[in-house]
Amino acid sequence: MTNKDSPIGVFDSGLGGVSVLRACARLLPHEDFLFFGDSANAPYGEKTLEEVRALTLRRAKELLDRGAKAIVVACNTATSAAISLLREKYPQVPVIGIEPAVKPAAQADDSSQVIVMATPLTIHEEKYQKLAAAFCHEAGVISLPCRGLAELVEEGHREGPVIDAYLQELFLPFRHCNVEYIVLGCTHYPFVEKAIRKNFGRPVEIIDGSAGTARQLRRQLAARNLLSDRTRPGKVTFENSIPEKAEVSRQLFETEQDDGL
Ligand code: DGL
Repeated sequence: MTNKDSPIGVFDSGLGGVSVLRACARLLPHEDFLFFGDSANAPYGEKTLEEVRALTLRRAKELLDRGAKAIVVACNTATSAAISLLREKYPQVPVIGIEPAVKPAAQADDSSQVIVMATPLTIHEEKYQKLAAAFCHEAGVISLPCRGLAELVEEGHREGPVIDAYLQELFLPFRHCNVEYIVLGCTHYPFVEKAIRKNFGRPVEIIDGSAGTARQLRRQLAARNLLSDRTRPGKVTFENSIPEKAEVSRQLFETEQDDGL
């Protein structure tokens, strides 16, 4: 039986979801969080739809079995593949997902060009295709699948020659385009935001959906009277399908907190 003081379950294919966890913990500092990273199965974004659905259902079930009062799918890929299935299966539980923040980027400016960086599976899925189509009359939406980028982040690359070479090649076709916004449509990418900015080579606004997901979590908990009344700081527990990566997630969470990102 869950109650207001039960933890919020957050999961991702690996380390990336820490960027969403950070936004949630900042907005809801008295809540407890249980974060699960499935690094043993990363990257989700290069698996089949069926594989990602099966993994997502499994991870959500595990968190619910451990008493989570809500589930945050801190992964754009898992959200696009399985959020409707999860909501059908667990109608009594708030299930919050994340999707590329195309809307704020497209609506910010009348004639903007927006690059959406995401995993191949996210971009391939109907959910994203509909989202991009809904805003293509407001902005030029360029969908950019970034095969291999989440893996580089999993391997610990944040800056340096490997990530620079990857991003320079990725951005080469856009050298002469008038791009004003880059949407980070994968929760791993905020950890290489500095490298993205540097290698894009021109001033650009970078947008990610974590803060919106955190606000949606708060709204959903409030609507179901599930916000904790506690006044002590919340606890955050880290777990990972590669046990030593749990500690890496914790360090990433704390480092990023210190950076004030
Ligand atoms: N962090 C995930 C996302 O937001 C996916 C990374 C992966 O491919 O595993 O899409």
